[in-house]
This record gives sequence, structure tokens and C-alpha cells, in this order.
Amino acid sequence: MTKKTIKAIDALEEAQRIALAPFVFQTAVSLRKLGVFSYIFDNRDADGVSFQEISEALEIPKYGLGVLLEMAESAALVQKNNANNYELTKTGYFLTYDKTVNVNLNFANDVCYKGLFHLTDAVTNQKPEGLKEFGKWNTIYEGLSQLSPEVQQSWFEFDHHYSDGIFTEALQIVFSKKPKHIYDIGGNTGKFALQCLANSEEIDITIYDLPGQLNKALKNVRDAGFGDRIHGIEIDWLAPNPQLEKGTDLIWMSQFLDCFSEAEIVKILKACVAAMDADTPLLITETFTDRQKFDNAQYVLEATSLYFTALANGTSKMYPASVFIKLVEKAGLKIEEDLKLGEYHTMLVCKKK
Ligand SMILES: C[S@@+](CC[C@H](N)C(=O)[O-])C[C@H]1O[C@@H](n2cnc3c(N)ncnc32)[C@H](O)[C@@H]1O
Repeated sequence: MTKKTIKAIDALEEAQRIALAPFVFQTAVSLRKLGVFSYIFDNRDADGVSFQEISEALEIPKYGLGVLLEMAESAALVQKNNANNYELTKTGYFLTYDKTVNVNLNFANDVCYKGLFHLTDAVTNQKPEGLKEFGKWNTIYEGLSQLSPEVQQSWFEFDHHYSDGIFTEALQIVFSKKPKHIYDIGGNTGKFALQCLANSEEIDITIYDLPGQLNKALKNVRDAGFGDRIHGIEIDWLAPNPQLEKGTDLIWMSQFLDCFSEAEIVKILKACVAAMDADTPLLITETFTDRQKFDNAQYVLEATSLYFTALANGTSKMYPASVFIKLVEKAGLKIEEDLKLGEYHTMLVCKKK
């Protein structure tokens, strides 16, 4: 990010915003959950809506609604017009209706909020200390399929939002390599496998994942009618000597390696190299912090790193390409193509050195 100079008065205001950020955040969560933002927006043509009207229409006690709207007005989420009625500001509008903002807000609230309280301990102990808010696991991936439906929904929506969009573009590259058998490493819910199988009758897929996710993915793909071409192998990449079976035509990994530390990434990629022939392509898709056009996208990725620290595993992050590419090379791979996918993603097409 470029260096900015700001006046002391503005810096103090910014510092206060940060000091009280959880208050504003939870105010936004509540006003959205209670339907206040959407009610104000839906009635925007009637010269705004009065406090009384909001309270009566949505059956929200006046005291609580009052404190929420006061905070929201100071934080510029709502504003009053000349008739003393409420209107949504642009920020309030995006908080209510922007898809990416909503996915981020639900993920922050439902998955990360309580766990982030343990961030300092997570940093010191190099463990996801916030995960105890959900259960006794070493990583969130061990417990993912056991999280409450609300938490799972926010987790999956966040995960899918940042990968679904590039699958169509990515499929074209995958198919251009003419594979008959693909390994989907970290296949999660089977979404990528489903798209591959639906787009080609010639392909078989083997998903490698932890048991909880693998069973879910296999069920999803079988339920969609592709049971004869989907296979699954349980794997824990954190176990001592993880191995892939030989014989695949292509290895696919999307938003997977960011779930691991630098040393673990090298270990995983070396296991891939051991299962690859000289011309087996390994396709890695990631969002790199140093490849983002907008500061805003980098901000989201850096926040995601803190989710990994406090909740996911305590050791991984969203990497800059400058660091990541060195790990790929260290594992014995060469990068044959370095492709931009969509707005935020990079695909590295690798082969054995
Ligand atoms: C962020 S998800 C990626 C999902 C999917 N590939 C996508 O593009 O949306 C990471 C996947 O890695 C798997 N994973 C995480 N840690 C693992 C481990 N130690 N062993 C095996 N798989 C693991 C998770 O279960 C999950 O399915």
C-alpha cells in the first residue's frame, strides 16, 4: 500500500474508530438481522421513515432501536433527512446488499468473531487458540463438518464466494490438458468435481480430503448422478508421510495450499511430485496478496490470514506470490504458465523439474 500522511485530528478519529470497531460492527450486524436497513431502503421513496414507524413495523423495542440507530448515524451507516426521517447511506446500502460485503460480514460474525478474541495467544503459542470457542480440534478442518449449521453456512459461503467465480474459466484450462483422470486435492464439498463431471463424460475424478469433507463431497457428487466416475481417498496432509497414488493425468488444487505453513506446503508439493510423471500438470489456484489490483482486495486477504491464525490452524496465511513461487520451486516443480483468472486469482501450471 502507498504511504499516506494524515492530519493528527484525522488520525485520532481513526484510532477511536478502531478502538470502538466491535461496537460499530455489532451495530451493523444487529440492524441487518432485525431488518432495519432493508426496511429503511424499501421505504426510501416515502421521504425516509420515522423512528416510530421502524419500531412499530418491525416490533423492535424503542430503547434498543434508539441506541442502535444513534451509533449507526454516528458511524454514517444511516442519516436523517430534512423531515427527520431515516435514510440509508451508501455504506449502509453496501452493508445490506453487496454480496461480497455480506459474505465477509457473516464470516466475520459467525465464524471468526469470538475466536479472534484469542488472537494474541494464537500468535504466541502458534496454535489456533480461538478454535476452542467451537470445539476441541487441532485445526478447523477436522471439525468443519461438525460445526453448527449457521457457522457452516457462513464458512462455506465465504469459501465458495472466493472460488466459484473462476471455476468456468479454470475448467477450460483443465480440459485443454485433455485429462482422463483428475485428482482434486482438498475437494471440500465436491463443487469443482461436479462441474468437471457435468462438462465431460470422459473424466474420472478422485477427491483427496479429510474424512468429514470427503464423505460430504462424495455424497453430493453421487446424489447428482455421477457416482460411477467419482472416487475418494482419505488423507491427512499433517500426518507423517502422506502419499498420493500414482497414475493421475492432472492434479488440481484450488484455495488449498493457503491452509498450510510454508514447510507444510513444500511437504505436500513434494508428495505430489512423487506421484507425477514428467508431463503431469499440477494446477494451483490461489489469491495472492501481492497480485491484487485494489487495496480493498488485499485488505480482505490479510484479514483472512488472521482467520487462519486465530481459528483455522495457527500457522498458515494468504501468501504473496513472491513467497509462494519459491516454495513451489523448492518442492521440485517448475512453473510453465502463470495465468490470471478473473479479478483476484492466479493459476500456476506446474510440471516436475
Ligand atoms: C479452503 S478449502 C478449499 C476448497 C475448494 N478446493 C475450493 O476451491 O473452494 C480447503 C480444503 O482443504 C482441506 N484440508 C485442510 N486441511 C487438510 C489436511 N490436513 N488434510 C487434508 N485435507 C485438508 C479441507 O478439508 C478443505 O476441504
